Amino acid sequence: MCGIVGYVGYKPVVDILIDGLEQLEYRGYDSSGIAVKFDADLKVYKAEGKLQNLKDVLKQHSKEISAAKTGIGHIRWATHGAPTVLNAHPHTCSCGNLVIVHNGIIENFKELREKLTKQGCVFKTQTDTEIAAHLIASIYARVKDLTEAVRLAIKELDGAFALCVMHNDYKDTLVVTKRNAPLLVGIGEDEFFVASDVPAVIKHTKKAMYLNDNQIAALTPKSMQLIDENGNVLEPKIEVLPWEPVALSKMGYKHFMLKEINEQPDVIRNILFGKLHTPLEPIVLDEVKLDRKTLKDLNRIQIIACGTSLHAAMAGKYLIESFCDIAVDVEASSEYIYRKTVTDSKTLVIGVSQSGETADTITAVKQSKAKGSHILIITNRPDSAMAREADSLIPVNAGIEVSVAATKSYLAQLISFYLLAFYMAEIKGSTDKALLQSMKTELMLLPQKIEQILASADKIKECAKLYSNTRDFIYIARGINLATALEGALKLKEISYINATGYAAGELKHGPIAMLDETMPVLSILIKGCVYEKLLSNSEEAKARNARMIALTNSKDEKLNDLFDFIIRIPEIQEIFSPVVAIVPLQLLAYYIAEFLGKDVDQPRNLAKSVTVE
Ligand code: G6P
Repeated sequence: MCGIVGYVGYKPVVDILIDGLEQLEYRGYDSSGIAVKFDADLKVYKAEGKLQNLKDVLKQHSKEISAAKTGIGHIRWATHGAPTVLNAHPHTCSCGNLVIVHNGIIENFKELREKLTKQGCVFKTQTDTEIAAHLIASIYARVKDLTEAVRLAIKELDGAFALCVMHNDYKDTLVVTKRNAPLLVGIGEDEFFVASDVPAVIKHTKKAMYLNDNQIAALTPKSMQLIDENGNVLEPKIEVLPWEPVALSKMGYKHFMLKEINEQPDVIRNILFGKLHTPLEPIVLDEVKLDRKTLKDLNRIQIIACGTSLHAAMAGKYLIESFCDIAVDVEASSEYIYRKTVTDSKTLVIGVSQSGETADTITAVKQSKAKGSHILIITNRPDSAMAREADSLIPVNAGIEVSVAATKSYLAQLISFYLLAFYMAEIKGSTDKALLQSMKTELMLLPQKIEQILASADKIKECAKLYSNTRDFIYIARGINLATALEGALKLKEISYINATGYAAGELKHGPIAMLDETMPVLSILIKGCVYEKLLSNSEEAKARNARMIALTNSKDEKLNDLFDFIIRIPEIQEIFSPVVAIVPLQLLAYYIAEFLGKDVDQPRNLAKSVTVE
């Protein structure tokens, strides 16, 4: 949700900034901008829309900006103020001598805006960020030191922010700070790189420093000074980033989403590697610190997450309750944090997040940690702020996910829940050993089953073609596949803008059935098992209202041909594992429908991959 970059050093800055912003495009793409410093001048360039528009603007100025060696940049996901050129960052103070880029939300911006307006500041934009520019500049006018001005200014700010600031009085200096938003400083030889996330710095250096909340760093090509909020000088803690510089390539696929869907068999193999050796051996989760006593003492588990991760959590609840004999609640983090939760030292709190950055989930995790709960984090980013809060960690190792619509990270989260449920069941002795062994055998076979589905993608493409002209879409399922229905519908909604909704099939008759007629596609996730017959009846009910019936099924039952207009078949699979397999055709269906409709699959409108605001 907004990405910031900065550079100070000896190389031409513009390409470094633009390349960094390109790597952060997953964080937003409403507008973008850069500010660069020449000997005696600061220049700001901005554009509405995708980063390409900024590149086009910069082409017209390439000569004048080629000499600049210091600069900051921003890619925006609008929170305060429409995504216009005016509201695009960087923002400046009244005299234009100070420029700033910001990721986060300054919550007390209204009060500060009133106060600064009274002091004579003239506001040009609707953003919360502009107040930070005026505030720092007004303090700077008094203290004549940029680092000190930033230090004093952040004492007045409430909310979340990562800031990167430049001032015309300084030839080549960046001042950076953060609170509840990510920021790291990449360390090179006579150069520093600032970024919201690793992909923007990793091709330049593997050495980096993560800023802690309320720390301030002043960077020049030859020096880095780090202080805390009280002005005490700190020794920077330099880390080696556990990343390889990867070219984020589509590897011949038309979109990252399609590439990421196709990577899923290997993602599963990757996460199982080292954790599940053979069905006869216990699951190994090195970074999970739950012993028998802690598990026995637990009286509940709460799983908190947002978006796609929330759907993985729903399947997780089903699995843990099935195998571990413990009550599990699942809740959207945004609902969890503004109510009284019954959470204490006997609660295991599991935070699930692809990015490890989602503001609502981080807040929820911090709240429950403060109440003494053991915190287990399932994330694709073991280097994230959320992972840093963890007592126990399951890194899902799905690799960088570029497409805004999550696919492979969902599958990796699901697999983590199987591993966790079996791991806890083994420690607690809550499930029969022979049953667990057969479960582990089945888990190891999942990659091949997904490969079979990927090989029959043409059938799903055919389905997409038939149903892409619809305004609405309903997905129904029961039991563990309710999560699949919700996630399938979310995928379609996100990238095609079709009004797709997932329902518990039994609930259809309590309201949604009123919407059914001959224009409405109803996709039934019909998996053989304890709810198969029930779901069949629910599908009959929908058929009786003339809905356009589609089945996603592992059944070979002939009578389905009369009931359904289109059947997507998946391989033989036990019901308990079916969410892993059943979601793949639904990801593909959403992808091909969006493709037919000519939508921007990897960067759908209004969305961001990483949501760092509450
Ligand atoms: C955003 C993304 C979703 C994601 C959700 C939660 O809305 O667009 O794809 O599921 O955030 O993100 P997290 O990183 O916490 O899983």
